[in-house]
Amino acid sequence: MLVSRSQNKLPMEIDINGEIKSIMVRPADTLLYVLRNPLGLTGAKPGCENGDCGACTVLVDGWPVKSCLMLAIEAIGHKITTIEGLKDTPMQKSFIENWAFQCGYCTSGFIMNCYALAKIHPNANDEIIQEWLQSNLCRCTSYAEIKKAVKSVLSQSNSRNPKSNHHHSSLRINIRDNWRDVTMDYTIQPGDSFYLIAQKYNLPLNELISANPQINNPEHIFPGQRITIPLSSCSQVPNQYRLPDPYPEIRVAGKNPYYAQLILDDYAGKVSETTAIMQYIHHHMEMEKTPSWQEVADLEEGISIVEMLHLEMLGGIIILLGASPCYNDGRQQPWTPQYVAYHNFDPCAQLRADIQSEHEAIRQYQTHIQMIQDPFIQALLARIIKDEEFHIKLFSEKLTKLCGS
Ligand code: FES
Ligand code: FES
Repeated sequence: MLVSRSQNKLPMEIDINGEIKSIMVRPADTLLYVLRNPLGLTGAKPGCENGDCGACTVLVDGWPVKSCLMLAIEAIGHKITTIEGLKDTPMQKSFIENWAFQCGYCTSGFIMNCYALAKIHPNANDEIIQEWLQSNLCRCTSYAEIKKAVKSVLSQSNSRNPKSNHHHSSLRINIRDNWRDVTMDYTIQPGDSFYLIAQKYNLPLNELISANPQINNPEHIFPGQRITIPLSSCSQVPNQYRLPDPYPEIRVAGKNPYYAQLILDDYAGKVSETTAIMQYIHHHMEMEKTPSWQEVADLEEGISIVEMLHLEMLGGIIILLGASPCYNDGRQQPWTPQYVAYHNFDPCAQLRADIQSEHEAIRQYQTHIQMIQDPFIQALLARIIKDEEFHIKLFSEKLTKLCGS
């Protein structure tokens, strides 16, 4: 029986340009579709519709997001701003004054991206501007004019607020000693005490004190002081189960609850590092029962340790984004063992399931790279993908050797 498209629609409320609107959406509708059709906001343009061109860029809680890659239902609980919500902003004026467009098709996407850049990085240097502009494409204007428009806005706001650069530096976690010793730089906030910080990060107080020998009296700290927070460390990773390339610094451009939700899916969702760790440890224990499978059992264990390292790095990102790395996914659903592909007593089926899990993880990371417009997080996810590809190769070699396929 044919079901009309409208029959599958569900009601939702969307916070759009400061107003709450009630609309009917299909679960698979993209935010771009819903903006342009039921809402009639045609400023966000359909270009490639696969995340490459940026013509559809809107702001989600102040962060630029390609609306063709986001489901409308994912907008629930977030503030969406489109070009229609910007009224005579300095960035819009600057695009006009600097001739930063010709046909204009890409312009609303560029303006949304550059507007967010000026808010998030009011003191952005050439390198940061370059990185941000890479997410949008223009066919007919020189990027020089667009850059000029951005720089003109940044220089105006900096001359009005010369201290602005003190408030918007990106957040980072330093990783030292082959990432076994993970630390986070932290600036003391008003009302902070060492006791409260230790509680917040679940640390013994003496560990926090000994990580900060520069603080003479931990009872007298003041806002603005920099301290180091030692995070939980990951056990030594066997080299043969990861690629030798270094991991990028654990760092984010700024806090962002929406990005934290996406990374929580990678952390403890159905397709996640937590699922991979649990699955590989289970397969390791099962395979260990059979001597001829010992080499694969070792592989499962080694790869699970690499996934623990990934888990720890994602946890660091989630903290920097302003959320808590609990074992919940982005929708606050707790991780469940039902996510694990057990395949008890069938090691070949286990190996196939492991390869499939790695493929699914890569696909999810690739989607998140498109959705998360933070170059630091994108770099980390791209590096994790390389390890996952390496794991597919290692699992596949064993599959061919022991299962003949
Ligand atoms: S339409 Fe091209 S990125 Fe969305
Ligand atoms: S101004 Fe025409 S595509 Fe950018």
